[in-house]
Amino acid sequence: MTSTAMTGHATTAEGSRSRFANDVRDFLTQHPRQLPSRYLYDDLGSALFEAICRLPWYPLTRAELRLLKSHGREILDAGVTTLIELGSGSGVKLSALIAAAGTGRRHLDLHLVDVSKGALTQASRALEGLEDVRIETHEGTYEDGLAGFRLARHVAGRRLALFLGSNIGNFDPPGREAFLGSVRQALNPGDDLLLGADLLKPERELLLAYDDPLGVTAAFNRNLLARINRELEGNFELDGFAHRALWNEARSRIEMHLRSLRRQRIQIREADLDFVMAEGEMIWTESSYKYDPAQVVSMLERSSFRVRAQWIDTADRFALTLAEAI
Ligand code: TRP
Repeated sequence: MTSTAMTGHATTAEGSRSRFANDVRDFLTQHPRQLPSRYLYDDLGSALFEAICRLPWYPLTRAELRLLKSHGREILDAGVTTLIELGSGSGVKLSALIAAAGTGRRHLDLHLVDVSKGALTQASRALEGLEDVRIETHEGTYEDGLAGFRLARHVAGRRLALFLGSNIGNFDPPGREAFLGSVRQALNPGDDLLLGADLLKPERELLLAYDDPLGVTAAFNRNLLARINRELEGNFELDGFAHRALWNEARSRIEMHLRSLRRQRIQIREADLDFVMAEGEMIWTESSYKYDPAQVVSMLERSSFRVRAQWIDTADRFALTLAEAI
């Protein structure tokens, strides 16, 4: 029997626009200037990110997919009935995992959380074909999705949360700890978390992954300015900014910036902003921390998880870690 139901939860368009405007104002007026990275993922941004995942210079997605396919059965063991993926994107990884674990054996409830409506539509389509799944989409942030998941804790069977794509690396250490704490709070003891994390590798490879020769990553980053123009009546001139990726050795992270190529006046009407950027001044849009495998284990242990297994792709240096909430 195939049963596919889809329900969506979305915040009002007005509410999310004023939240965007407030965040842009708060972050762009900090020193150094910043923008919160989740706004990179509007529909166009999500599509550009999907293109990044296919670039030969960005091996993370392929490495993670290989691990999901080879260890699907162990990851999705027989007791799991409910899955939640935070930042589900195209849904390709979740569907590969379910296929690798063997479908048709039992009913699965799938919860997809993403800030992009376009990505949710695409993911629902990718997963619909699977037998005996119920799909629920949540358009919103990780926190929004976890709040819903926390409420639905009285389900039969165990639950598995997935946080893939090394999105964990986009938090700074305090934010990461708070995030893992709230994931743990949303789970029952015995539930699982599957965490994908990119590992340290030579600087040259890291820089190519975040500044590719086709300029797709640059387009993805600069789309954030285009989005501000579109949604908040900004006046960013896109050719006035260049994408910069830097390796910060001391902090073990790649930093993505948008560098102002000239002195220019920035006005963003909906965010009530009017300021001047100097030539060479940067807007920091994202960090991507890189780990060694033991660090991933210890961050999970500090947040009340017990590691059940860790698999490493040695070719591209990527780790999948399966941990149980204790
Ligand atoms: N989670 C992804 C990563 O850290 C996000 C990402 C990949 C990204 N490429 C990017 C974010 C370029 C900003 C700019 O690998």
